[in-house]
Amino acid sequence: MDRDMAKGNVELLVVHAKQLLTLSSDTEGPRTGRDMESLGVIEDGAVAVSGEKVVTVGPSEVVVRSVQLGRGARVIDATDKVVMPGFIDSHTHIVFAGSREKEFDLRMRGASYQEIADQGGGIRATVRATREATEEELFESAFERLGRMLRWGTTTVETKSGYGLTTDDELAILQVIDALDGNQSIDVLPTFLGAHEVPDEYRDRREAFITLIIEEMIPSVAEEGLARYCDVFCETGVFDRAESKRILEAGLRHGLRPKIHADELTSCGGAELAAEVSALSADHLIYPSDAGIAALADKKVVATLLPGTSLFLRSPYAPARKLIEQGVPVALATDLNPGSCTIEAMPITIGLACLGLEMTPAEAITAATVNGAYALGLAEELGTLEQGKLADLVVHNMNDYRQLPYRFSTNSVHAVVKRGSVVVGESNWMPVRAVRREFGLRPEEAGVPARGVEPRDREGAFPSL
Ligand code: NIG
Ligand code: FE
Repeated sequence: MDRDMAKGNVELLVVHAKQLLTLSSDTEGPRTGRDMESLGVIEDGAVAVSGEKVVTVGPSEVVVRSVQLGRGARVIDATDKVVMPGFIDSHTHIVFAGSREKEFDLRMRGASYQEIADQGGGIRATVRATREATEEELFESAFERLGRMLRWGTTTVETKSGYGLTTDDELAILQVIDALDGNQSIDVLPTFLGAHEVPDEYRDRREAFITLIIEEMIPSVAEEGLARYCDVFCETGVFDRAESKRILEAGLRHGLRPKIHADELTSCGGAELAAEVSALSADHLIYPSDAGIAALADKKVVATLLPGTSLFLRSPYAPARKLIEQGVPVALATDLNPGSCTIEAMPITIGLACLGLEMTPAEAITAATVNGAYALGLAEELGTLEQGKLADLVVHNMNDYRQLPYRFSTNSVHAVVKRGSVVVGESNWMPVRAVRREFGLRPEEAGVPARGVEPRDREGAFPSL
């Protein structure tokens, strides 16, 4: 522990976690193979926070004695609780209008997702509804989705455009994403997905649509600084491997890092392409080829698996065991969208990762946190609880992390801390004086400075949020 840094004023302390999952590791890069099982568990753990960052992490005894609690510091008592990094939902499509329950009904009567899409429904139906909506309406519905996701413990979300499919409509969606990022607690990272589908007006002119994406949409999006990543729905009947490559390379020339919807409905070379362009992630991967898996492992491209989509489309689950055994780093995300998965909660996704993808609870938690950070290229800031990283963490009302998938339909979130602020929760605040009393510390050792006046001196007197 860096004592100098730890000595700084700490404004938030989470103490006495039954299990503190730090997810820290000595190995570099995204977690692969057996390393996906190591959660860096500390029994009776504590996290000290200053500003937006973690100052120190360790056993409560060590952390509390090493920090100086600032005036007005808050202490969360995590006795009998599990504390872990906030979930990183690294693949979603949350900005859209309309709803597709009629297609759901048709699917339950035997129609397939692709048949519905070929007949003009599917993504194109949502594109029509989204074009009709105002930006305020798009903001409002996505804002509500993010609020629910936060209450399930998600602190970072990647989300894609792709329901506009004209330059103006794509820019409008990305502007909504930008506004969402600035106006609620979750960090929202934007992806340009103009190559989500060929829209109605270009059905007979697909090459012209690809030209529009490459020559107009990508340069405009990049010029306005509205996206970090570029994604393509690389799929038989949508954008083939060669087309996807042209689009992703155009994105790269404009500074957009590639991500790919790969081998979701058919095996079509998506995994190979992801490796070829050194994508941050290849997502879905229900039907990757053996060569594609080897290429992903070789380049350490993150395989972002979306088990909610397999459940929702009643399609097979991705070969997670094979991916992990072959050394591909695996992340998990919801894929939240109106057509192929309406699941908003990462804990449900973690449950499905165990039950459907046959991952272990520890692997699933690694995939939903640190490997998600790698899928976004943000592992320096996010994904583990370590000194210097963002203080994004969740306190779960459970005393063993394996309860997360075991009781996946129960929202066990007790509190969420985002960038150092408690944004969800009826926390058990512990008065600073109680911490000092418990650890037998003099005022100058922990807590407010000796001459300071504590605002409240009764246990339990701190307000609940
Ligand atoms: O990731 N595959 C493409 N995009 C979404 C589905 C979007 C929709 O059906 O509206 C997905 O599954
Ligand atoms: Fe998707």
